[in-house]
Amino acid sequence: MDLHSRYPGIADLKHRAKRRIPHFVWEYLDSGTGVEATLHRNREGLDRVGFMPSILHGPMEFDTSTEFLGKTYPLPFGIAPIGMAGLIWPDAEGHLARAAAKAGLPFTLSNVASQSPEDVAPHLGENAWFQLYPPKDPDIRKDLLNRVRDAGFTTLVMTADVPVASRRERQTRSGLTNPPKLTPRLLAQIAQRPAWAIGMARSGPPRMRTLDKYTDNSSNLPPTAHVGYLLRTSPDMDYVHWLRDAWDGPLVVKGVLRPEDAAPLQKAGVDAIWISNHGGRQFDGSPASIDALPAIRAGCDLPLIFDSGIEGGLDVLRAKALGADFVMLGRGFMYGLGALGPQGPTHVIDILRQDLLANMGQLGAETLNHLPAITPLVDAAAQR
Ligand code: LAC
Repeated sequence: MDLHSRYPGIADLKHRAKRRIPHFVWEYLDSGTGVEATLHRNREGLDRVGFMPSILHGPMEFDTSTEFLGKTYPLPFGIAPIGMAGLIWPDAEGHLARAAAKAGLPFTLSNVASQSPEDVAPHLGENAWFQLYPPKDPDIRKDLLNRVRDAGFTTLVMTADVPVASRRERQTRSGLTNPPKLTPRLLAQIAQRPAWAIGMARSGPPRMRTLDKYTDNSSNLPPTAHVGYLLRTSPDMDYVHWLRDAWDGPLVVKGVLRPEDAAPLQKAGVDAIWISNHGGRQFDGSPASIDALPAIRAGCDLPLIFDSGIEGGLDVLRAKALGADFVMLGRGFMYGLGALGPQGPTHVIDILRQDLLANMGQLGAETLNHLPAITPLVDAAAQR
């Protein structure tokens, strides 16, 4: 049976991933912060964005290509940065980078990934992006940017929505610490997930390898913090200006929700704004990212990236119709890895492509530049 028959949607991968990775790892991947209101709001917000299907178009020819920051991509989405992805599946970053390169899509390596820019360099295509938690120390900043550039990364993404650590209560409840300490409780969870355990035994325990050079990793950190917090600062606009001068490729600022934050970023020479509430992982009182998108679009002409809650091709179309130029997914790709290992990321891309095409057909939209206006659905959840 082929993968599409067994796992036709991201929900199927999510279901399987939960059964293949230990509970504390699942909680790390799947959880939000607080009571997870923002996490759910992201989904509910997307479900409320509807369209009137347009009929009688005859046979259609679809073109899913998208222009973004001077490049043409075959599909309008890519892989968002995922911290400690190697905890979710061994060699996660390698699998993600290879799948993205094969599909011609952007792959973003997290600053706190379990592989370093040098580790993934041999697997990168032309569209490698690097996400930065801004280092405090000017020498580390410069060194990290040089490493990233030398490894073949073209685009720098500075995360602005993690000024402080978030509490991640579900992760704490599961027994997860940073770095994970193998307590009897965690070992009992691992014992129930043999495929994951064997993979980890081969690859060794994941750690934030990009930062190895700058820290001895033995520091005593509070249980929910991680080594990245030792090195980083909470950035301000001066930091954005510094980065703009230091990085000659495209610069993106991630974690924007307020329309009034767009103009100063544009003035500082930022090339694109990434609208995100960090998938509900940072602040439980923010609107759904999709609800923040229209006002930012209306007030700014910078290219916009969107994430938070995307689970299918229809969601991609929703974000595009509301003015996003490009869409990114983090969890979706990790559900694929957790469920299927190395085959996961490519299967996620295939699911999204097929779902995108099916929904473009329903809308009578042959290209992504001709999407119909949206129709707000007031009570989408109640209709199910
Ligand atoms: C997270 C950080 C690592 O969301 O970005 O877990």
